[in-house]
Amino acid sequence: MTLKPNSVNVSAPGKIILSGEHAMVYGYPAVLSAIDRRLNLNLCQENDEIKIISDHPPDLAEYGIRQVTKELKVSDRQGWTAKIDSNIPPTGGMGSSAALSVAIAAALYFSTKKKLDLKEINKMAYQIETRQHRRPSGGDNTVSTYGGFLWYRKEVENLKTFSSLTLDNQMKLLIIDSGKPIESTGQMVEKVKSMMLTKPARTDKIFREIEKITRCFLQLLIGEKSYNLANLMNDNEILLEEIGVVSNRAKLLIDKIKSIGGGAKISGAGGYQAGSGIILAYHHDEAKLLNFVSQNMLKYFRVKLGCEGVKLE
Ligand code: MEV
Repeated sequence: MTLKPNSVNVSAPGKIILSGEHAMVYGYPAVLSAIDRRLNLNLCQENDEIKIISDHPPDLAEYGIRQVTKELKVSDRQGWTAKIDSNIPPTGGMGSSAALSVAIAAALYFSTKKKLDLKEINKMAYQIETRQHRRPSGGDNTVSTYGGFLWYRKEVENLKTFSSLTLDNQMKLLIIDSGKPIESTGQMVEKVKSMMLTKPARTDKIFREIEKITRCFLQLLIGEKSYNLANLMNDNEILLEEIGVVSNRAKLLIDKIKSIGGGAKISGAGGYQAGSGIILAYHHDEAKLLNFVSQNMLKYFRVKLGCEGVKLE
């Protein structure tokens, strides 16, 4: 493709959370992975206004461009045309808004500084993410920026620590669509916050249990054979149900997967009234899971984990 001289192409991956969603908003650790679904962005300096060409609502992209140009002190009289093309399912849970925030930050950073500085890009993407909900942990944008598998922890607002886990672990997970949540990520985070306010001891106890499971996931990823992936997913799921982020529709599906000997959990913010977004599902005998999804006519796909973070295309 011939690029206009002032045009830049970047792509950023979506993500799944193996363990630790919601808990990570409160400083507990999480294990995340970048996946082989990406958002592509072509950013071009053209007119005097911001123009978004996308199948998705343009408001986050427009906000992101304004926010980053301000941060980079680029004159706001310069207009940008952003063409967004994504194969990250918008179902919920796969980090499509984080990938968009990261791609915008990277494209604008590159077009002004002629290099990519992942630390700066991640910082700006986090600022865009705070528009989505006021208390992001920053995990989603960090894994989309750096890629791979991450052990992530937001200690306090100004101290977010993470380690990239260099592994070659290819868990054979299926992603099953439980239906688009009615609630936004922000609303689900608020729902958990109100439980934290009314039942702090109980909520903290659940998060501590989630942390134990997150640590087991870490062990499993680095090769400790004594953990059973399906059991860890099921244990994690029960705790997510206890904090009220799983809908009945998703619970029903997950119970059926358990009943055929598999493991399943929601991944991401979840949803309560309708769908809960994506479900991660695993069975040591994958044929059984494939049989289950086809018999129930469910939408599903495979996912590759540990993929590359944001990059120039
Ligand atoms: C959303 O993908 C993950 C949550 O934990 C929110 C966050 O970490 O910002 C629900």
